[in-house]
Amino acid sequence: MHVKTASIVVAVFAATHAFALPKTEEWSKPKPWKNPTQHYFQNAELGPRPQFLITDMDEGWLKDRLSACSDMVAQPTKFSIGHRGGACLQFPEETRESIEAGTRMGAGILECDVAFTSDRELVCRHDQCDLHTTTNIVATDLNAKCTTPFTPAVNGTAATAKCCTSDITLAEFKSLCGKMDGFNASATTPEDFLHGTPAWRTDLYATCGTVLSHKEFLALVDSHGRDFTTELKQPRVPMPFGGDGSDYTQQRYAQQVIDEYRAAAIDPARVWLQSFEFDDVAYWLQADPAFGAQAVLLDESADLPGSSLAAAVANLSFYRDAGVRVVAPPLQYLVALGEGDEYVPSDYATTAKALGLKILTWSLERSGPLAQAAAAGDYYWSTIANGTHKDGDMYRLVDVLARQVGVLGIFSDWSATVTYYANCFGLF
Ligand SMILES: *[C@@H]1O[C@H](CO)[C@@H](O)[C@H](O)[C@H]1NC(C)=O
Ligand SMILES: *[C@@H]1O[C@H](CO)[C@@H](O)[C@H](O)[C@H]1NC(C)=O
Ligand SMILES: *[C@@H]1O[C@H](CO)[C@@H](O)[C@H](O)[C@H]1NC(C)=O
Ligand SMILES: *[C@@H]1O[C@H](CO)[C@@H](O)[C@H](O)[C@H]1NC(C)=O
Repeated sequence: MHVKTASIVVAVFAATHAFALPKTEEWSKPKPWKNPTQHYFQNAELGPRPQFLITDMDEGWLKDRLSACSDMVAQPTKFSIGHRGGACLQFPEETRESIEAGTRMGAGILECDVAFTSDRELVCRHDQCDLHTTTNIVATDLNAKCTTPFTPAVNGTAATAKCCTSDITLAEFKSLCGKMDGFNASATTPEDFLHGTPAWRTDLYATCGTVLSHKEFLALVDSHGRDFTTELKQPRVPMPFGGDGSDYTQQRYAQQVIDEYRAAAIDPARVWLQSFEFDDVAYWLQADPAFGAQAVLLDESADLPGSSLAAAVANLSFYRDAGVRVVAPPLQYLVALGEGDEYVPSDYATTAKALGLKILTWSLERSGPLAQAAAAGDYYWSTIANGTHKDGDMYRLVDVLARQVGVLGIFSDWSATVTYYANCFGLF
């Protein structure tokens, strides 16, 4: 009896679907594909994460508003800035794969942090000396060229290595594989040292990330028709690089970034240069005002020894008077806790706005599960940790930054989260 019923069900299913599915030869026809090298990924693909965050929110108007957008066709938006490529929550940072995933997820501006190689070429790396945690270098012959080659853990002393872009040439850099940032301090072999990805990230896409020169980054992002943000990373070697008498000074390094944009004929209006060093921003303002106009002063000055948020606020008018137009503090500088668990704009936010400064902020989606992050004193949530309880709080933060602080854009390790909000609220 059961067998008979089951075979009837299968027969009905097969009959119904025989009409619904296209014939095999239809599948193999190429799809129309216009202009394959220019401006593809025109719609944003947001995946399941925004909905996961919204479902986790407390009931209320913001949850209703965001839920109402769940079937929208999303577009790229400059409000969504791809931090270290825009997908480094899951993809190796500063690689082609992170940038392509960030582009897919609608980031309108993509980031490359630059450092220089021994032959003075600019490459995308978040720190001049992070190759031992972001690439496979210690497990290659290039380990021998590292400032500090890999040393295994012995008797409870941690394994060490320090490998800098300035230790190797561009050609050598290009032979490396990008991986998730992390290392295994107990490693007794170079291969074991490469592990250490936090459990809430993944190694699924760390199958040899394509490392990029800054010139390759410009070509890649331009091919997608998106905008650019290049951060000049602080040198980890004395400048001028190459010793006394070398012409590779800090200013030469800062100028090289602009030279590469000029050589690629990219409109400065599409470019947001960034530095933590006021002197770099001052240099760009003076040397090339077209690029200086949108140069971003990254501000983490409240974290300096002996400093405070109040001291950082006090410095904002100095920057404004010096010609800086855009400041970018970390998320937590811009918000405070109001009544109950409400997030409200901080003194820093209201002062920067009153001075007419434009504001960008960094970095969303860097902290892992939020309940855990808030309890563990996570940097980016530190000023609102006592009002942060779950992942659904993500959009409460984005909402106060967007509608009350009025930031121009948010750097995120997972671009879809910001792209979703921006599309839902019409921020482009
Ligand atoms: C590690 O500890 C063992 C036992 O105490 C000792 O024999 C050995 O010399 C130590 N090795 C190093 C490199 O310190
Ligand atoms: C870290 O290295 C140690 C020693 O090589 C190894 O036993 C351990 O499995 C490694 N941990 C990971 C997560 O790979
Ligand atoms: C204020 O800005 C000046 C110039 O960059 C800097 O020297 C000083 O350390 C800053 N102070 C704080 C608290 O950020
Ligand atoms: C959070 O609450 C704890 C305990 O009440 C308190 O000590 C701490 O100062 C609060 N943190 C902030 C940033 O308000």
